[in-house]
Formats: sequence, structure tokens, C-alpha cells
Amino acid sequence: MLKVQEELAVLGGPPAVTAGSVSGWPRITTADKEAVMGVLERGVLWGAAAPEGAALQDEWKDYVGAKHCLVTNSGTAALHMAVAAAGVQPGDEVITTPMSWSSTATSILHHNAIPAFADIDPTTYTLDPEEVEKKITPRTRAILPVHLYGLPADMDGIMAVAAKHGLNVIEDCCQAHAATYKGRAVGAIGHVGAYSFNGNKNLPGGEGGALVTDDDEAWDMAARVQQFGERRRSDGEREYNVYGMGWMYRATEMSNAFVRSQFTRLAETTAHIQANAAYLHEHLAGIPGLRLPHVPTDRTHVYFRFVAEFAPEEVGLDVEPAAASEQVREALRAEGVGLGRAEFLLPRMTLFQEKQGYGRGCPWECRYGGDITYRPEDYPHAAKAVDRVIPLMGLTPPNNETLMAAYVRAIKKVFGQLERVVT
Ligand SMILES: Cc1ncc(COP(=O)(O)O)c(C=O)c1O
Repeated sequence: MLKVQEELAVLGGPPAVTAGSVSGWPRITTADKEAVMGVLERGVLWGAAAPEGAALQDEWKDYVGAKHCLVTNSGTAALHMAVAAAGVQPGDEVITTPMSWSSTATSILHHNAIPAFADIDPTTYTLDPEEVEKKITPRTRAILPVHLYGLPADMDGIMAVAAKHGLNVIEDCCQAHAATYKGRAVGAIGHVGAYSFNGNKNLPGGEGGALVTDDDEAWDMAARVQQFGERRRSDGEREYNVYGMGWMYRATEMSNAFVRSQFTRLAETTAHIQANAAYLHEHLAGIPGLRLPHVPTDRTHVYFRFVAEFAPEEVGLDVEPAAASEQVREALRAEGVGLGRAEFLLPRMTLFQEKQGYGRGCPWECRYGGDITYRPEDYPHAAKAVDRVIPLMGLTPPNNETLMAAYVRAIKKVFGQLERVVT
């Protein structure tokens, strides 16, 4: 039973979470500083074979259980390389989720290929394999699931659809470091995987990323895209011949060293976040109108965000859910709760509405025989989710049960007075 507590902060009452009590991320330790200083002292700042990058590649591929790894200067770069490495050609369609960060889909356009969206499973917010299968056309070349908020997608379902139709699978693991599906790290389940080491991720590096794959040819193509279109020679020498289009996606040594230092604490970081998530699950269960994250038993959730959902109809509120959810988020923010962005419904974005990527309608007007349309209403589960989610942040160390308890108080305060919040 929820009892009405103090006045809501949004209406002038005292906030439930004391100002300044949410510690930011990443937490930078003396060891992290020494790792970066070590690079400056060594004086080797760049290069495909530079020591921090080479070591990070070895460590990350072993951790994920893949044969190859290439570290990059962003997750977007790794995704672009992954799309090329998966054998996608200009004009091919790649099926992905409509609910993600923009570059999940723009990485497909970077290779002059065409994103096709399939709706999500509303209980996990990840790509629904049955919806994927409905979107397959003769032009489909690959499937790109996202392990959104740190929860692995239904990889068995997706791999089965891919095998049935001869498609490759590209995993967007940018939010899912250390997440496992049936005991396996994400990234090495599909054909090729992409990670981000952007500073807000559970494994942060300022900016950075990594591609992983078991496939030698995929690695060769990814390496070409990563570095000017050049092929990587086994003796480490450069040929300076360009075999195809390439960019410059190498990471700097300072970032690589920082990621390596943070990586020594990834298990600890993940366990800490999961303990905070367990606390929230326990103490927020049963609040009318609040849906908590659903974690199928065959996978682990690493809670890049702890994403709850507002369900006004459950509490008999006859309101427009998107506007009402924004009022709830505003009330929680006023209470001092750390909230992240909701992720986006990509088909709503101007790029997909106007289909102008490079100008002159390309890539949709360039070597593409199809006539795809992006109607937000075709993805009802994703549209519903993005409008209603409440993405809690601040589960990262050193924030602990004291903060989680304050979050719980804030949420109970707001959900105990919903009729005053949602107007
Ligand atoms: C799901 C997803 N994909 C891709 C990216 C892109 O990663 P980066 O910012 O490192 O380019 C992000 C980062 O926010 C992401 O969350």
C-alpha cells in the first residue's frame, strides 16, 4: 500500500534525493591516471600496432571469446566496419530495431545499404525474431540486433531466422559489456559484434569501441574499413595500397590505456550495478502503474540503464501516455532521480522521413531496387515503449544502497500521488 508522503518536489516540496548525492560516471582512479600517464611517458601515441591498442585487442577478444578484435575510436566506427565485414553491399537491406541509438541504423547507411526496421518484443525492448522474419525480402543481407540497455536480444531466435534465410548477424553490443546469453558473451554469437567504449558506458574510455569476430575474411574487411582501405599484413608492415573504401577509425593510445585500466574492474563494476538493480527490483516490485525490467532466465542483464515503464492504464488514468510519462519523468527529475534518455524511435527521425542520407536521395536512390517506407505506426511496440520508459541512471559505483533507497522513496512518492503529477 502506497501512502501519500511529503509534498512533491515538482510542486515545491523537498526532493527525496539529496542534491549532489548521485556520483557521476566514469569513476576515475589513480590507476586509471597512471595508465594514461604511462602512455605519455612512453611517447607512443598512435598506430595500428601501438602497444596499448594491441594489448586491448588481445584482452577483449579473449574476454568475449572471439578470434579477432579491432579497437576503434567509437562504437559507430565499429558498427560501420561490422556492416561491411558482414558482407553487406550497397543496396542490400539490413533488418534492425526501430528503438535504439541513431548510429545503429546510420552505420548501415554508411555502407550505402538500407535499414529496414522490425518491431521489438515489448517485454525486453529487443528485436523480435518473428517480426524480423516478416521483414525479409530478396534484398535482405543481414540482421542487426541491439542488446538494448544491457539486456541481450533473443539470439537463438535471431540466429535461427538468419540460418534459415542465409543471412549474417551483426550484434550491437554498445550497451552490453559483460552481458551473457546462455552463458556466452554477446558479440561472439553472431557473425560480427560491435562495442562502444564511450565515456558513459559500463566500460568507458572517453571515446572508443571494438569490433569482434571469429571470421578471418570478416576481420580482413573490417580492418580495411578501419584504416584507409588498406589490407592488414601478418608481418605488421604496411603496403600503402588501398583495396577499397576505408576510413580512419583507429583509437588513440590514451583512450586504449584508460579502457584497459577500467577493464580490470569490469567484473566488479558489473556486479555493483547488478546489486543496485537487484535492490530496485526488490523494493519497487508491485507499485501500481510501474513496470520493471523483465529479464528472461537464459540471459544476464548488465543494466547500462535500469529501464522501468509507466503504465497509466493500470492505475485507471485516462491520459495520453507520452505526455503523462513526461510528467512522471519531470516529477522524478525534480526529486533528484538520475534519468537517462529514452532511446529513440528511429523511423520518426527526419533522416528516415525524408530519406536524404548523402543528398540526392542516396543511398535510397542509389542502386537500391526497393521502395521502403518508414511509418512509425508500423512499429507499435517500439513506439509505445519509447514514449513510456523511465530510464534510471546512477547505478554505477560508488552509488550504493543508500542512493537506491532514496530513488525508491522518490519513486514511491511520485507514484503515490500520480493524480497530482499527471494532469
Ligand atoms: C546502442 C548503441 N549503438 C551504437 C552506439 C554508438 O557508440 P559510440 O557513441 O561509441 O559511437 C551507442 C552509443 O551511445 C549505442 O548506445
